[in-house]
Amino acid sequence: MAQIAEQPKTAPPPPRIGKQSDPCVMVIFGAAGDLTGRMLIPALYNLARAGLLSREFAVLGVARAQFSDEDFRKKVFDDIKTYCGDCVDDELWEWFSQRFYYLQGNFDDDNLYSRLKDALTKIDQTHSTHQNFFYYLAVAPNFFGPIVQRLAAAGLMDQSNNHWRRVVIEKPFGHDLESAKALNQELLKVADEKQVYRIDHYLGKETVQNIMAFRFANGIFEPVWNRRYIDHVQISVAETVGVEGRGSYFDHAGTLRDMVPNHIMQLISLTAMEPPISFDANAVRDEQAKILHAIQPMSDEEVLSRTVRGQYGEGTEDGKRVPAYRGEEDVPPDTRTETFVAARA
Ligand SMILES: NC(=O)c1ccc[n+]([C@@H]2O[C@H](COP(=O)([O-])OP(=O)(O)OC[C@H]3O[C@@H](n4cnc5c(N)ncnc54)[C@H](OP(=O)(O)O)[C@@H]3O)[C@@H](O)[C@H]2O)c1
Repeated sequence: MAQIAEQPKTAPPPPRIGKQSDPCVMVIFGAAGDLTGRMLIPALYNLARAGLLSREFAVLGVARAQFSDEDFRKKVFDDIKTYCGDCVDDELWEWFSQRFYYLQGNFDDDNLYSRLKDALTKIDQTHSTHQNFFYYLAVAPNFFGPIVQRLAAAGLMDQSNNHWRRVVIEKPFGHDLESAKALNQELLKVADEKQVYRIDHYLGKETVQNIMAFRFANGIFEPVWNRRYIDHVQISVAETVGVEGRGSYFDHAGTLRDMVPNHIMQLISLTAMEPPISFDANAVRDEQAKILHAIQPMSDEEVLSRTVRGQYGEGTEDGKRVPAYRGEEDVPPDTRTETFVAARA
């Protein structure tokens, strides 16, 4: 990590709407990867643009790639240009970029975590982040447990001095019930349940957020949103692109595991749940859970009659020829992994 610079004089705009984040450092494990570049960096930039990031905020990226802080900032700039869809505001960029740092290392190396601790101490002093740290695991799932255990061993999950420490995990959270339970146990050995955020980025999508407002803040629809007036609901999630460079990940997962237990179950439960007693996270979660319990498990025969799996063939996208799934990079030509799934619940 290069020498930490002075805090820049410029500041982000005041928040337009919503609550500003707490002062904190976001540590991104897997900072050189696809999820970071395509999703996390643009999301952070948009939060900064909306004035929703605390002024006392910084990001520390961790991965194997040999980057200096400056190289990492350049990559962040390129990601914003590529994925945010418009030009980067010079003044905001000056404020934003100076809170990005990079630490090179291997997740399996214990020494990384003592260097991480030193780096966090310095960043915390420079940006007054109140020692609040959250660790975003943008890494392959086999690293989830080991990284959190090493963070805890280095004292980096400790919340004893009025600061918070959190860990954020995206899908896939295990590949079946048993592995999900095993991962849960591994995490909860060293972290409190309230420190673990199993997130689903679909919940941040505007259309998904709007389902709640549309259902419960709308005097026209609320009274007729029930089985007397609605015969059935179809939820379609249509991708605009193929697996592109993600073949090696996708072929092990498939659409069923990649989309259904997380995003689609969220959509089903938000669509079908009763009004929660408040919009507090636990109250909403409890109502969603009731729907999941109410879905009947399928028998083997029902799986055959109520589900369909398929793969996409070759076609055109924006006037360009694109390959069939079996012709994608890193996908075996005889793979039976599904890229399409439909099910009736
Ligand atoms: N991509 C998405 O849109 C998406 C969406 C939802 C969930 N996810 C999940 O998010 C996770 C990350 O996905 P991704 O697509 O970003 O993967 P990726 O592009 O392969 O990135 C993995 C990152 O981890 C780093 N890394 C791997 N092994 C390491 C090690 N031993 N030590 C240090 N760094 C290491 C890589 O660093 P180097 O490049 O420096 O080697 C890279 O920065 C996966 O669990 C995936 O399932 C991804």
